[in-house]
Amino acid sequence: MPSIGHSYLPAILALAVVAVPAHAKEPTAAERAAAIVARMNVGEKATLTHGPMAVPIFGPQNLPADVVPGAGYIAGIPRLGVPSLRETDASLGIGWAGGLRKDGATALPSGLAMASSWNPSLLRAGGAMIGAEARAKGFNVLLAGGANLMRDPRNGRTFEYLSEDPLLSGTLVGNAIAGVQSNHIISTIKHFALNGQETVRKFVDVDIADGSARESDLLAFQIGIEIGRPGAVMCGYNKVNGHSACDNSWLLNDVLKRDWRYPGFVMSDWGAVPSLSAAVNGLDQQSGEQLDVKVWFAAPLAQAAGSDPKVQSRLDDMNRRIITSMFEQGLDKYPAPPGGVIDVKAHHAVAMEVAQQGMVLLRNERGVLPLAKTAKRIAVIGGFADLGVLSGAGSSQVHDERGPAVQVADGNHGPFSGMVSQQYHRSPPLDAIRAIAPNAKVTFNNGDYLSEAIADARSADVVIIFATKWATEGFDVADLSLPKGQDQLIDAVASANSNTIVVLETGNPIQMPWLSKTAAVLEAWYPGAEGGPAIASVLFGDFNPSGRLPISFPANVDQLPRPKIDGYGQVPATFLGDVPAGTPPIHANFNLEGSDVGYRWFARERKRTLFPFGFGLSYSSFSHDNLRVDGMKASFIVKNKSSVAGAHVAQLYLVSRGGTAKLRLAGFQRTTLAPGAAAAISLEIDPRILADWQGGQWVIASGDYGFALGDNAEQLGPVTTVHMNERRWSD
Ligand code: BGC
Repeated sequence: MPSIGHSYLPAILALAVVAVPAHAKEPTAAERAAAIVARMNVGEKATLTHGPMAVPIFGPQNLPADVVPGAGYIAGIPRLGVPSLRETDASLGIGWAGGLRKDGATALPSGLAMASSWNPSLLRAGGAMIGAEARAKGFNVLLAGGANLMRDPRNGRTFEYLSEDPLLSGTLVGNAIAGVQSNHIISTIKHFALNGQETVRKFVDVDIADGSARESDLLAFQIGIEIGRPGAVMCGYNKVNGHSACDNSWLLNDVLKRDWRYPGFVMSDWGAVPSLSAAVNGLDQQSGEQLDVKVWFAAPLAQAAGSDPKVQSRLDDMNRRIITSMFEQGLDKYPAPPGGVIDVKAHHAVAMEVAQQGMVLLRNERGVLPLAKTAKRIAVIGGFADLGVLSGAGSSQVHDERGPAVQVADGNHGPFSGMVSQQYHRSPPLDAIRAIAPNAKVTFNNGDYLSEAIADARSADVVIIFATKWATEGFDVADLSLPKGQDQLIDAVASANSNTIVVLETGNPIQMPWLSKTAAVLEAWYPGAEGGPAIASVLFGDFNPSGRLPISFPANVDQLPRPKIDGYGQVPATFLGDVPAGTPPIHANFNLEGSDVGYRWFARERKRTLFPFGFGLSYSSFSHDNLRVDGMKASFIVKNKSSVAGAHVAQLYLVSRGGTAKLRLAGFQRTTLAPGAAAAISLEIDPRILADWQGGQWVIASGDYGFALGDNAEQLGPVTTVHMNERRWSD
């Protein structure tokens, strides 16, 4: 139990006021919140509904004493025992906030790396780890839980998110949130919803039909909320069907609060509140208020409440929801004063495990991997591998107290320029390779000059070439190439040495024009604080790769529903995605793919990708057989057919309904198997995966449903067909 500083005494005293005799039923968090709202005076009611960014981004600020520099701050009401909210980013660790706090944090690998593990318990452990760090630093809200589906592989925030599938993303994000909240702090789930691109993110208007949304992106949020029970939902910057996501009654009132009966509160993204109408449209709290044109949820909200009973009752509801979440997570009973102790070693072990389980082996010709530790001459080339591993940028940027090993500026982005630069974590793969193969002659070449790199490659037995593709919040990437001539570099090096192994540090899928010339390709994503040793452990076989792609790698952008990102290059790109006055509306038509996002779209269009969803190699080989489906239960046997222990990710797909092809991931299970071992797996199928949303209900039509186990979405085993009777239900 952390020590309780004097600033937390009001909270404790207020608890004494509501204390009840031991034999009486404890009031629920919602009942306690309602009792507090009943005691609030008019002035107090617009306290919890808004707050600033807690960083001096636009010059010095007068912030209260209990502010911890970070993403945001909401003042508490000490008289009533309501704590302040001290908010920090994000899903990958405690935000670096441009180095403002100097205390550093443990950087988890990117969301894509986490998701490549297909391992809900690992996500839970990661969440628990970053939640513990948030607490120790004095934060009681973690702006975590990125759950948007990858609708475009060029989305600059793909690295922060998890996957392109609602079941996978929802299950993983729910577990991550539960892990965060196990520390008695609130986690968000974000960005609600359909925030599918960074280009003109505050302006783009997503067109999507109700059913398509509920079967895809909204389902990811719904599952995530059911599993993780986050205290807050953060609405996005984008518009959906004509209305800003934070001012969108359909999303917030109808779907989230009515249909899903969500009891927590909705906070805005930073600068995402277009008007006061957001209050009646379901928004409960205005965050990062300096970034909006007006602090709507302060005096204007209080005034409106004074004259409009509808706003008055919403204002009470906002307060009830915010306080209910605080009490539900125990923010009052377990205050989080700064200065807590962090078990750095244990936290780095979590980062290491996530990095290892998250790496995806994409190619391994002639069994070149794992490398023998007795290798003689190894040429390491490119990617700043001598200094560190790449990370993604924006509000989710994390660093340890030493800050980045390398920082490459990316132009001037005004007040946000500190958040938008290429930054490497201090975990050099070169050192880790030298440590794991101490008898090898390991050379390093930065890859700037082709001639030098080729010469190095020629004189080595094995080449390990590192390729990086940086991505950041605020901006999408132009295309699927590797930037700065790296495609040419890999081509030249692989042509010079047939034992060329490519290690990718990317935040997005890429194309690989050089693929056939290489011996092996390992996708390491942004591998976090232990990236270097994790990469070396996989290359040299200390860790048997088990990651599976949580997103498709398309063969080219012409395969996508939208070969061009809507608005890209049309107006000057800015971090927040504002556009010059008079810009005509920019729509993103998500109805093209509807709920067939990612692999579902490619299956529908009969397109073969470069690497499909679910793909990943291992040093073991596995089989899965005997698929039986009985009602909503599937069972089958997985077996490790090799002499190497490893983990298998079983993937169960719905492949047809009523004789018509329909591809949807229906279940998954990661299992570790000793050499020759077999395991019987059984999975519950979520009926929403089989259903369509029609006329305000989930509907399973009567008919035959085909299921298959797959190595990935394009390599499916024998089909097991079962009959289902019609079923209809509402949320
Ligand atoms: C991002 C959010 C983040 C917030 C606070 C916004 O720019 O979209 O994900 O939580 O900033 O830093």
